[in-house]
Amino acid sequence: MKLPFAVAKRFVAGESLNQAVPKVADLNEYGIKVTLDLLGENVTDRTMADETLQHYIELLEGIHEQKIDSTISIKLTMLGLDIDRDYCRDNLFKLLDAAVKYDQFIRIDMEGTDYTQLTIDLFKEAFRKYGKHVGIVIQAYLHRTKDDIDELSALGADIRLCKGAYNEPERLALQKMDAIREAYKEYLKVLFDKTVYPRIATHDDKLISWVKEYTQQKGIGQSRFEFQMLYGMRLDTCKSLAAEGYNVRVYVPYGTMWFPYFTRRLKERKENIWFVLSTMFKK
Ligand code: FDA
Repeated sequence: MKLPFAVAKRFVAGESLNQAVPKVADLNEYGIKVTLDLLGENVTDRTMADETLQHYIELLEGIHEQKIDSTISIKLTMLGLDIDRDYCRDNLFKLLDAAVKYDQFIRIDMEGTDYTQLTIDLFKEAFRKYGKHVGIVIQAYLHRTKDDIDELSALGADIRLCKGAYNEPERLALQKMDAIREAYKEYLKVLFDKTVYPRIATHDDKLISWVKEYTQQKGIGQSRFEFQMLYGMRLDTCKSLAAEGYNVRVYVPYGTMWFPYFTRRLKERKENIWFVLSTMFKK
């Protein structure tokens, strides 16, 4: 059964860029920056990966032409990582050539653990060539993350830290929320020390309060980092953080391939299911 887009609209800004643009403009009005994500993952044939690359390039053109305040986030499995590593790297580099042309920034999202090392390796290759135009995501729940954070922050990488959204086994990832939070704080301390501008991706009040206290204690100015949240979640918190002078960015996904992203949001938090149900029954 194919679900209608209406069920996902709480978390997905539209099925096309044109539908997403007004929502981006609304967020920009509140001083909130955006990263646009054309949804999809695990592309298995080259025609589709080539089309995706073209769509990402058109997205960069669209952002430039419509003067939207937005970067973009991508997934390497959309650019052919499941097909062939070198082919995926060539696609990533073509996209980064376009990013250089438009003075843009591409964030490589982090996917499940089958892809962690490949993603980090491709990021490092891209970073050597494209520097400030590319960034990566690191997941606090993985046991390997301490080493990755040390290595990537020593390189001067632009890192978004999140908890991690995929179901991973105990041998690879922390399972308990308290332990994940504590790990998140330890990694953030390293990012504050070693990197220019950490991106703090969480909706968690406990972490947000901790960041506020920690940065005040250490004299880390508000201009030295940003909070990031997902479209459809905690808009009031985003607005109040922005009003308090913090940098805030919202991750705005759009596109027709919304189903896997949407189900991850539902699994993450039971309240999200109620949001969806209430949206469905609202006229
Ligand atoms: P979590 O769901 O752990 O909730 C913790 C607490 O926060 C809750 O108990 C509640 O108190 C509060 N809370 C959370 N959501 C709330 C809400 N909507 N309203 C009120 N209170 C709420 N993952 C990944 O694997 N790879 C990636 O590339 C990315 N990218 C990414 C970008 C951005 C901008 C964000 C915000 C997140 C990601 N993620 C991600 C997802 C991330 O790994 C994680 O799964 C989710 O952010 C959920 O974790 P949180 O810390 O946000 O809250």
